[in-house]
Amino acid sequence: QTLHFVTMLGSLRKASFNAAIARALPSLAPEGVTISTLGSLGDFPLYDADLQAEGFPPAALAMAEQIKSANGLIFVTPEYNYSVPGVLKNALDWLSRLSPQPIAGKPVAIVTASPGAIGGARAQYHLRQILVFLDAHVLNKPEVMVGQVTGKVTGAVPELTDAATRDFIAGQLTAFTTFVQQSAS
Ligand code: FNR
Repeated sequence: QTLHFVTMLGSLRKASFNAAIARALPSLAPEGVTISTLGSLGDFPLYDADLQAEGFPPAALAMAEQIKSANGLIFVTPEYNYSVPGVLKNALDWLSRLSPQPIAGKPVAIVTASPGAIGGARAQYHLRQILVFLDAHVLNKPEVMVGQVTGKVTGAVPELTDAATRDFIAGQLTAFTTFVQQSAS
């Protein structure tokens, strides 16, 4: 049975290190698993309940459909000021108002990356807290926090080239695949 995962990227930056990791995921996935990246979180307007009353933005509706039809959702995000970037929180705020709420019951895996030493660990734990309220089923381990990410990528449009990091993330994807299969059964 083939499985499909989608990736939500928490950075809008063209040369984003987290985007480099998101781009590498398909090549690190186990056999039978495909992975694609969701649309840009920059397409979401700032959350406003008055705007919601006029109708959900197309970016939110389209993303909700893609998440609903995926077997799993993978967050790849930087840490901003010890938490999740505003663009990511904003998108989650929009998605959380939809009914049915697309992340409820969805298997989720998280990758954070930073040039700093602890790889966005604090953002990762804030994201895990948000996902409790959204009722996601989050993979606990392995925790993937890619520290000192500048030394693990190469090129102006960065590519994830560090072998140990690639192996570690491949291991997470294998664990996530098992987790998804178990939640489906
Ligand atoms: C950062 N950065 C950062 N890094 C970190 O490890 N912990 C933090 O709290 C913060 N805070 C923070 C706030 C803001 C507003 C910015 C712009 C940056 C640095 C951040 O990890 C770095 O810019 C990464 O390169 C961002 O990820 P992408 O865009 O390369 O994926």
